[in-house]
Amino acid sequence: MNNESGKLVAHSRTVMTEMIMPNDTNPMGNLMGGYLMRWMDIACAVCAARHCESQVATASVDHISFHEPIKLGDVITLTAQVTRAFNTSVEIFVEVSAADITGANPRQSNHAYFTFVALDRVTGKPTKAIPVIPINIEEKKQYEVASRRRELRLILAGKMKPEDAMELRNFFNDFK
Ligand SMILES: CC(C)(COP(=O)(O)OP(=O)(O)OC[C@H]1O[C@@H](n2cnc3c(N)ncnc32)[C@H](O)[C@@H]1OP(=O)(O)O)[C@@H](O)C(=O)NCCC(=O)NCCS
Repeated sequence: MNNESGKLVAHSRTVMTEMIMPNDTNPMGNLMGGYLMRWMDIACAVCAARHCESQVATASVDHISFHEPIKLGDVITLTAQVTRAFNTSVEIFVEVSAADITGANPRQSNHAYFTFVALDRVTGKPTKAIPVIPINIEEKKQYEVASRRRELRLILAGKMKPEDAMELRNFFNDFK
């Protein structure tokens, strides 16, 4: 299998672990949201660059919500994986879980979708992204829905007219 036909999701899956230290917290002893977003961006950027085999730039981040506080001394694990490549962009899904340092009290913290653009090594301009080959049910579901998420985020960013969002239109027509 060569890169023209695509790469497996597992090939670029990126797992990152951090222990929450005093410098990472707010006055209540909880992890600052901005630090978590920074780590999410790093894990996703590494995953995107591994998949694209190029430098990448963060183009957008979808909605992030924080379900419950992560405490000083907790250990968080970020797992980032590519869902789909479009023309020059790739969508990366990142999940964050937290636990005590012993592994006790494990819980899902939050998740988000990031979009990165593959950049040409010489010109620094957007370049073709390597396709993704989804193989299991979860990967196939993420792959299929990615095109609707892309249209929605491009509409919200003012980069696509709603009337050009064919995937979303077909999706909602199915409910008529
Ligand atoms: C992201 C960036 C490379 C896009 O460049 P551009 O000249 O606008 O390129 P294009 O309009 O051709 O878009 C390139 C790709 O980005 C995607 N894109 C652009 N804006 C986007 C957005 N807001 N959300 C999601 N995808 C976006 C396009 O859909 C396109 O993907 P596709 O080729 O797969 O269809 C450019 O805007 C940039 O360099 N931004 C700053 C990146 C950065 O510094 N990030 C860190 C933030 S501090």
